[in-house]
Amino acid sequence: MGAGPLRTAGAGTLRPEHAGAEVRLAGWVKARRDHGGVIFLDLRDASGVVQVVVDPAAAPEAAGVAREVRDEFCVALAGTVRLRPAGIANPDLPTGEVEVAAAALRVLSPSDPLPFQIDDRAEIDEVRRLAYRYLDLRRPRMAANLRARSVGIAAMRRVLDRMGFLEVETPTLIRSTPEGARDMLVPSRLRPGTFYALPQSPQLFKQLLMVGGVERYFQVARCYRDEDFRSDRQLEFTQLDIEGSFWGQDDILATLEEVMVEVVSALDATPPARPFPRLAYSQAMARFGTDKPDLRFGMEIVELGTVFASSRFQAFRTTLESGGLVAGIDAGPLGLSRSGLDALADRARALGGKGLVTAIVEEGGTLRSTLAKHLDQAETAALVAAFGAVPGDTLLLAAGEPRETRVLLGKLRLELGQPKGHRQLRFLWVVDFPVFEVTPEGGLAPAHHPFTSPVDVSEMEEHPERAVARAYDLVLNGTELGSGSVRIHDPALQRRVFSVLGISDEEAERRFGWFLRALRFGAPPHAGFAVGIDRLFSVLLDEPNIREVIPFPKTQTGLDPMTEAPTAVVAEQLRELGIDLRPEARAALEGEGEAPPG
Ligand code: AMO
Repeated sequence: MGAGPLRTAGAGTLRPEHAGAEVRLAGWVKARRDHGGVIFLDLRDASGVVQVVVDPAAAPEAAGVAREVRDEFCVALAGTVRLRPAGIANPDLPTGEVEVAAAALRVLSPSDPLPFQIDDRAEIDEVRRLAYRYLDLRRPRMAANLRARSVGIAAMRRVLDRMGFLEVETPTLIRSTPEGARDMLVPSRLRPGTFYALPQSPQLFKQLLMVGGVERYFQVARCYRDEDFRSDRQLEFTQLDIEGSFWGQDDILATLEEVMVEVVSALDATPPARPFPRLAYSQAMARFGTDKPDLRFGMEIVELGTVFASSRFQAFRTTLESGGLVAGIDAGPLGLSRSGLDALADRARALGGKGLVTAIVEEGGTLRSTLAKHLDQAETAALVAAFGAVPGDTLLLAAGEPRETRVLLGKLRLELGQPKGHRQLRFLWVVDFPVFEVTPEGGLAPAHHPFTSPVDVSEMEEHPERAVARAYDLVLNGTELGSGSVRIHDPALQRRVFSVLGISDEEAERRFGWFLRALRFGAPPHAGFAVGIDRLFSVLLDEPNIREVIPFPKTQTGLDPMTEAPTAVVAEQLRELGIDLRPEARAALEGEGEAPPG
């Protein structure tokens, strides 16, 4: 091919106006079609795909090479751009009106036979994809996701820079601090027996930056939490982390809205209207049975206390008399058969419900339901009116402890509801979260984190379970994207919150003394927020889980199938760290043939 650059143009950039141009291209062979004469190669690089034609009559040497190349060989070529013959343009390809007639072709790097097709249509086992992630990343969908993530993060940096924020890095080897999840620990070699923790978030360091006078901070921060996996959780993940001094809730919300509008616009989607709607936590629970409502459809929870207050249907009446809740959703025209309705009741039980009463509204306003015989005409009419139901609608009714009942109906709503129309992005602020939540053991835990300011301090001490926090969540299409709060900047108040949590002054001093001390040096009032970047892009890119937008994620069981991390380490490494494996851990590793030698 002679001297000169490997590449003078991107494969995906060629258009009819380039016809006649001499180009050098380099990339991967996406496909090869050899019909015994002319050989066609689809050449892919980061910019896209173009068709290359190798004609043995015009370029016999190149044709010899072309016969040898296989899928995903890395090749370079020189040739001339020309219009495709009339009638055989490919409208599906941005370069579909042109092709490149190769004069020279060489293999830069051959490829082993592929473990799977580099093709978005192929359904491939995820563990296999992750074991060969570098091949998986060549697939158009993954390549597009990486690109979109980069474009979106660039937009975040742009808007925050414009608003005067400083990007500051905080350490990832820190002291273990409680933030809700289990810490990931890193043993210290220089002080055997001691451990750093990887940060669950930069929370306390960003607050210290406020004490340090930074005033406007952000970071694209790696965070680590040793918690159970779900489709929207990883052991390590990324946050857009933000903090501001002399800030309140409205400053935070306005800033985050500006960031979201910029990111959505950068991804060529229709930006959401501002301000985003706000819903109090109690309202979100009452109307949607969740603290992260999906607003893409209605089907809101309707309370039926007045309908059943003096009903002959005893199950509902006694629930109401004992302070319980009777409520329901109008699931619309489900058109289910008897057995379909039974399956729905089974599903409700599987979701933790005690039972579900179904009722189909018939023409004339009567009900097809076990409930029908217990209701008089007025009650039936009141029930139908409470939902605004029309004939054909299926009503789902549940009764029990208020919160459990709402949560059950909220889950059924999510399973039965269908977002209407084209892809919508429905952002929502959930505000006025409680300060504490009651743990399954009956104790109190911070609903957000213990550095969150309560609205009313005496209320927090007298009725902690009722107290409202200056805390808020950002929700998009039913996913919690992020959380934040106004912080406590008064060390005395911080101690009072610890005390309600059962953390004594001594314990607080021992665990957080270093942080409480900082609050005694003129700490400014401050507030902040963190957006889960992986979750944000998985929703924006309409992916079913966050692994699709993370370059090298772990599996649901915390493994990396490519490197096989986590692995045992050699005995010498453990010795240096002053660590002995417990017999059961050693036995388990031996069982896997992985015990450290020595
Ligand atoms: P929080 O713990 O709510 O708040 O986390 C903020 C956001 O981070 C994302 N996130 C995760 N993403 C993937 N995998 C995980 N395991 C995971 N855990 C959390 C979510 C979540 O909404 N320091 C506070 C923020 C603040 O108060 O400023 C914090 O970390 O999208």
